Amino acid sequence: RRPGRTRAVLPGQIGVLPTPTTLRQSIIVPTYNERDNVAALLERLAAVLPHSETEIVFVDDSTDDTPEVIERVAGDYPMAITVHHRENGVGGLGGAVVEGMRIAGGEWVVVMDADLQHPPEIVPDLIAAGMRDGADLVVGSRYTPGGSTGGLADRYRKLVSRGSTLLVKTLFRTSLLSVSDPMSGLFAIRASSLDAGQLRPLGYKILLELIVRTRPGRVVEVPYTFQPRHAGESKSTVTEGLRFLKHLGRLRLGSGRSRMIGFGLIGISGLLPNQALLWALTSMSGMHYAPAAVLANVLAVVWNFALTDQILYRNRRERGFLARASRFFLVGNADLLLRIPLLALLVDGAHLGVLAGNLLTLVASFLVRFLIAEKIIYLG
Ligand code: GDD
Ligand code: MN
Repeated sequence: RRPGRTRAVLPGQIGVLPTPTTLRQSIIVPTYNERDNVAALLERLAAVLPHSETEIVFVDDSTDDTPEVIERVAGDYPMAITVHHRENGVGGLGGAVVEGMRIAGGEWVVVMDADLQHPPEIVPDLIAAGMRDGADLVVGSRYTPGGSTGGLADRYRKLVSRGSTLLVKTLFRTSLLSVSDPMSGLFAIRASSLDAGQLRPLGYKILLELIVRTRPGRVVEVPYTFQPRHAGESKSTVTEGLRFLKHLGRLRLGSGRSRMIGFGLIGISGLLPNQALLWALTSMSGMHYAPAAVLANVLAVVWNFALTDQILYRNRRERGFLARASRFFLVGNADLLLRIPLLALLVDGAHLGVLAGNLLTLVASFLVRFLIAEKIIYLG
């Protein structure tokens, strides 16, 4: 992370070192066709923020002339104002915000919309609250006493907002305990607590992404009233709603507990090909149970690898196919070293049936294999 910017030392000024002013705040504003809003936004931000300690970073995916409008009016303010126009629009709103976070140089990184639904006058309050309370994250909240959804004009939108907030609070109970408005698009985060590299946003809900994935330490909230849109129209669509559901799924499946359940289900499904082949080889072609158990295991490992690799760790395939497959096969068959002697003990010693004995040894090795996949094959 880049340290705060300092004022240049004037040439010839020997012995008089000007006090370096660090950049207090970077305001990140994602824009998508907001040509009629950006001038008013800049005017109101400039009126409440110290110019020398503030930078404003627009991350733009517009198809209109929003970047040109920003550049035209930026000269009116003695403030660092930059526009980063993206050609690809990857990740939508959230992707744009993360790109802004990468270039932000301020002690605090503030994220807000361009359409003035987030009153610019609240930005100094966010930072002040964060500093006063030693917070890592300050959330601008519509759902804390003093806040309101005022500008969410129609009933339908209010209901959707309330409903999805409730859903999200239930899904991510522990991460969101102290956050009343996890779907807010207005927040400030202390740069030293921000790990943008961990964020994989998909669409609008960048704050949710940030809280669930990076678990900021101390969170405080500042109430605000959601305003009507200044000009233009909302970019939120039905497609954006579906993207949100996909985002939720991704965030939920990203938790270790969900993966353990998935791994268990896949493991259980592997019992089917395993036992079936073992049965076929021993009772139909009269093969000895030891080599039969080895072959049955190989089939089950192929089955497990296919499912694990295609579904469970689909988004975490950092190694190449051969590297993943060979490790998986090594680990998947390694337990035969213990399972075959154990099977012999159960079948020859304890006179258990081949299928029952095989099942017992499989259950015993399940936990061990899960731990190895988590820690070694698919890294952290
Ligand atoms: N760069 C970029 N790329 N910006 C985008 C994109 C995109 O794909 N999509 C939207 N934006 C910008 C808009 O230009 C605007 O500045 C801001 O993101 C919010 O977009 P709106 O379309 O105005 O969103 P909204 O009002 O429906 O939703 C806002 O309020 C919700 C709370 O009700 C957002 O802040 C949501 O995150 C928030 O949950
Ligand atoms: Mn809006």
